[in-house]
Amino acid sequence: QKDGYKHFMLKEIFEQPKVIRDCLTGRIQKGRVVLPELDALDIPGRLTIVACGTSYHAGLWAKYLLESWARIPVQVEIASEFRYRDSVFLPGDLVLTISQSGETADTQAAIRIAREAGAPILGLCNVVGSSIARESDSVVYTQAGPEISVASTKAMCSQMVLLLLMTLSWGVRKGVLQGDILERCLHDLPLLPDQLEAELPTIREKAKTLSQGYADARSFFFLGRGLNFPLALEGALKLKEISYIHAEGYAAGEMKHGPIALVDQHFPTFAMALGDELLQKVASNLQEVQARGGRIIALVNPGAAPAVEDPWVLPDMWGPLKSFLVLPAVQLFAYEMAVYLGKDVDQPRNLAKSVTVE
Ligand code: M6R
Repeated sequence: QKDGYKHFMLKEIFEQPKVIRDCLTGRIQKGRVVLPELDALDIPGRLTIVACGTSYHAGLWAKYLLESWARIPVQVEIASEFRYRDSVFLPGDLVLTISQSGETADTQAAIRIAREAGAPILGLCNVVGSSIARESDSVVYTQAGPEISVASTKAMCSQMVLLLLMTLSWGVRKGVLQGDILERCLHDLPLLPDQLEAELPTIREKAKTLSQGYADARSFFFLGRGLNFPLALEGALKLKEISYIHAEGYAAGEMKHGPIALVDQHFPTFAMALGDELLQKVASNLQEVQARGGRIIALVNPGAAPAVEDPWVLPDMWGPLKSFLVLPAVQLFAYEMAVYLGKDVDQPRNLAKSVTVE
């Protein structure tokens, strides 16, 4: 059932336009976000997002939007840490668990803790009827279809779409979301699947060329700021997971606090330097890397690119929709690297699709 693709991972990356379409179906109507799953719950006074791995990165990404557009304080927790900490719960808290499989043991444990504390639980899951879905008070399904490859790809894309819709829904209900943001988002989101579909072959070609040019690297930094910081973490995770190249994701501004000591001509950087309000900050971080001889691949938008060795131009999109092109770029970079190095893409060593034990 690979539909002519060489690996499930590649098939699932290329399914992302359809996944976005399916996530949006019925959820935007007459200029409104329709998410009845949220209606039974109060607007959170504070949101605690609990997840692992790639799902955790989706939660981190959403924090930026939820705080800025819905003015909801958000903490994002790694489930294996959250479950053994003595967290403080406040009245009005909502716990949001994110899990593709709905069977991740640590995330399930977080549900039990929230339950004991009396906090309502919202699940964001892909697998219908999974343990986490059953144990949550309300569930939003991501409807991404079965994800076979151990490396999670389309699930994260679907989580990001739903988290964006949740942000809009809560922002409107609270009366804090600016009308122009809502309008622009609801206008641009339905256009996204076709735009992504048109771009994916080009992104793949560039990923192939660049991965071959950097296949001798034993370590990589992935750097980004703002919404691109969680995507930097995700890019590093993907590269580690399937190509076995050491990679570290960092907030670009943290480099000078230690990691930059590692940079030399053998330790390249993969940067997200898109045309957003943080570009100048990222550009100066990249100059510091270049001053130490570091090679740089940078995802950029036309006309706004810092001078780096390997600019990777993505078409410009509005606001957070940029992330839906950054995500497949880092996924395909890892994919093409793993293929080039002859690794087992769909079944990387030491890993299971669902982590049902601690
Ligand atoms: O099924 P879940 O979303 O709960 O899984 C969480 C992680 O185990 C998962 O995202 C893992 O990090 C992936 N293999 C990453 O590609």
